[in-house]
Amino acid sequence: MSSFSNYGSVEYWNKRYEQEKGVFEWYQNYSTLKEFLTPAVLSPSKNLAKIDGEEEACLGEFPPKELCKVLIVGCGYSRLGEEMLNDGYIGGIVNIDYSNVCIEERKNTHDNNDIYRKVQAKVNRETREELNRKSSKEKSDEESDTLKNNSIRSKSINSISYPQVQRMEFECIDVTKDLPYPDNSFDLIINKAALDAILCGNGALTKVKHMMQECSRVLKDGHGSMVVVSHGRPEDRIMYFENNEKLWRGGVRIYKVPKPNVGVLVAATKSKHHHIYISSK
Ligand SMILES: C[S@@+](CC[C@H](N)C(=O)[O-])C[C@H]1O[C@@H](n2cnc3c(N)ncnc32)[C@H](O)[C@@H]1O
Repeated sequence: MSSFSNYGSVEYWNKRYEQEKGVFEWYQNYSTLKEFLTPAVLSPSKNLAKIDGEEEACLGEFPPKELCKVLIVGCGYSRLGEEMLNDGYIGGIVNIDYSNVCIEERKNTHDNNDIYRKVQAKVNRETREELNRKSSKEKSDEESDTLKNNSIRSKSINSISYPQVQRMEFECIDVTKDLPYPDNSFDLIINKAALDAILCGNGALTKVKHMMQECSRVLKDGHGSMVVVSHGRPEDRIMYFENNEKLWRGGVRIYKVPKPNVGVLVAATKSKHHHIYISSK
């Protein structure tokens, strides 16, 4: 078993990723997380949006998943991105990790798969079905005017423009340094077990502070949200969000999910739960 202190070093991760290739999912998988990735959870209500005790205007609505631009930090060998893509996050997913071994491996194995062809076919089928449904509705709404009806149906079906599935990106980037993205780039950031790894290393407080600032900067104003999945209890994690009220207008919302029985950190810690921390800009 590895010592916790190793998790904060890129040398540790490079060596581990060299030796153990293949999929490895820390903490929780997408099927649990997706319950939290809904506009209802990600768009905080008006009364949570306070700065210096003053109520702010209601935050913006979170966009539907097909329009979301997503940044996954410390992606490792997790297949969260692929599962999200498969489930309709087709607007662009960027995976970053500071381990160059990890990113090279992810690029090599990812390029060989046919996920895009499958997802595009699914999107096309759903688009056609939706269009047919609308067309049938128009038909029944305007039964009395057969001529008009036929012209609507043929126009809709002949001029389908299918949403294009965006390819995922994999970049070797240290999330605790300045991020190479403009302000307002992403709708959603997911940090699953990466905060915990960073906290194991030297100079963690300064690094986490900078990571929080950068994550807030690259999230879109009004609705951009960051989801952090951690083994840390609220009393040990909340300070990283709470001291940052200017960054996270809605404060932090905390959820508890049972741990599945996998992963080294699960065995090494006493709690039976992981916590999900959600902050919105
Ligand atoms: C515990 S693993 C979690 C991997 C993956 N997110 C998952 O849930 O399966 C932590 C990951 O964070 C990455 N990581 C640690 N510190 C990082 C940093 N400063 N910048 C980017 N990635 C980092 C490590 O290389 C490792 O892949």
